[in-house]
Amino acid sequence: MMQILSVLLFAATAAVARCATVRDASEIPASTTQYWITQPVDHFGGSSGKTWQQQYLVNATYYRPGGPIFVSTPGESPISAKYTDGSHFTTLAQRTNGLLVTVEHRFFGASNPMPDLSGASLQFLTIENVLADFAALVKAAKQAPATIFPIPVAANSRVIFGGGSYAGNVAAWMRAKYPQLVLGAWASSAIVYGRLQNYQFDQSFGRHLEALGCAQAFAQAVREVDSVLLSKNAASLASLQARFGIPALSPSDSAGLLSGLTTAYSMAPVSTTADYVDSNVCLHFRNASSTPMDSYVAAVRAAVQQAGMTQQQLVQMGNSSLGINNYALGQVGRVWYYMGCSWFGNWQIAPPLGAGLSRYRSQLVDMAYFQTNCQKKFGSQIPVPVDVAAYNRKWFNALSGVSNVYYTGGSLDIWRDSTVSPSYGDILPPAHGSAIVVIDGATHVQDLSLNSPSDLASVQRARSTGDALVSQWLSM
Ligand SMILES: *[C@@H]1O[C@H](CO)[C@@H](O)[C@H](O)[C@H]1NC(C)=O
Ligand SMILES: *[C@@H]1O[C@H](CO)[C@@H](O)[C@H](O)[C@H]1NC(C)=O
Ligand SMILES: *[C@@H]1O[C@H](CO)[C@@H](O)[C@H](O)[C@H]1NC(C)=O
Repeated sequence: MMQILSVLLFAATAAVARCATVRDASEIPASTTQYWITQPVDHFGGSSGKTWQQQYLVNATYYRPGGPIFVSTPGESPISAKYTDGSHFTTLAQRTNGLLVTVEHRFFGASNPMPDLSGASLQFLTIENVLADFAALVKAAKQAPATIFPIPVAANSRVIFGGGSYAGNVAAWMRAKYPQLVLGAWASSAIVYGRLQNYQFDQSFGRHLEALGCAQAFAQAVREVDSVLLSKNAASLASLQARFGIPALSPSDSAGLLSGLTTAYSMAPVSTTADYVDSNVCLHFRNASSTPMDSYVAAVRAAVQQAGMTQQQLVQMGNSSLGINNYALGQVGRVWYYMGCSWFGNWQIAPPLGAGLSRYRSQLVDMAYFQTNCQKKFGSQIPVPVDVAAYNRKWFNALSGVSNVYYTGGSLDIWRDSTVSPSYGDILPPAHGSAIVVIDGATHVQDLSLNSPSDLASVQRARSTGDALVSQWLSM
């Protein structure tokens, strides 16, 4: 039954696609063509009228007048045509005659309001300014489309905003703050709930390890590593580093590096043919002739080898004193760090010792490890710690009761407890035209990828649910 239906649907889509060709494909500029919109440095009057150029890309291949505009942003990374051409929104645009636009977030990639990334310059990185940038572009796209697009686009087109992870926050906030401009938002794995001490991040990693049966052995290895890191014995530290094949960093930087190397796998998608936490972490702990510690060493060494990282690159990744005074543009990690220091915390630390929780990273990765860098990097005007309660009152509560938002999150998503569907239940009341879906067995932002034959059935269902909601919004 399901198969017959999808064959029929496919045939119908192909027929629509054939007669939808309104113009020669050669008249449509490539989606790699860069466009720029002029934006104020401060939308709220604090920059004496100074302006900057924000970059965006357009894919008009599927657009027909009357179709919606799908606006997305990668959030904390530079834009590229993969965000217009290679996401689930691409599929949606194909089905709805939609126009695809991806817009770079201020201070990422080539979209820089200020000439550097000093604390003084980053004061213009406020959520209000970020949203106002996107709103200005959407407003112009609706009111004066010829000033924004390289092809004729109908005025007052309906706009769906989409994004994954932090960009999912942006999508949901755009619907909450600019409901006249944005008809609906697809917020995949949106990390909307801020936490100063985000030890839930590691607990989510632990749930994935548990599901695969290696959580206890992993935690045992972390305890053994900690007994060396905490010993203050230089010789044992050096031999531990040699055993793992990592550079001679400080104990806390070694701890940070080791957890970074293994948790990274939990961001990869789980499919019917692959689970990277299984094949790259737990596999090593299943070796019957290997102790937990040996298994951890094998997992870290394999991770370094697989990523092809040199000792120099490991120093770059692990040395938290590097680049404190490097204000050069283009450092995505620095801008993200600023957002942690001044917006939402979310410091990924080991759980407090008294909490009775398993630990999957060193207890040396604590608040001091991160927070001391906030003022060193961005100046003493940054209050430490950041007021996360105020952030949640303002930016999490803003999402309560907002209609036409589709939230997704994987059950094995390492960010799950920061989404609206934490492991202990939904924390946003339902609103008209909105839905919250937990994608069973999936990790981060999996619903936003293009369809693939190896997708989990739960991921396919989450996309269909979202597609149906988008149709509902568009038919209102
Ligand atoms: C838009 O995306 C589709 C799907 O990836 C691609 O085939 C097409 O070439 C893109 N259009 C343009 C104008 O680049
Ligand atoms: C880490 O960076 C600091 C500051 O640049 C430097 O003094 C230290 O030697 C570096 N540590 C390693 C192991 O490279
Ligand atoms: C299992 O562990 C032993 C001892 O650490 C090691 O010699 C062997 O290569 C491991 N086997 C696999 C398949 O990794």
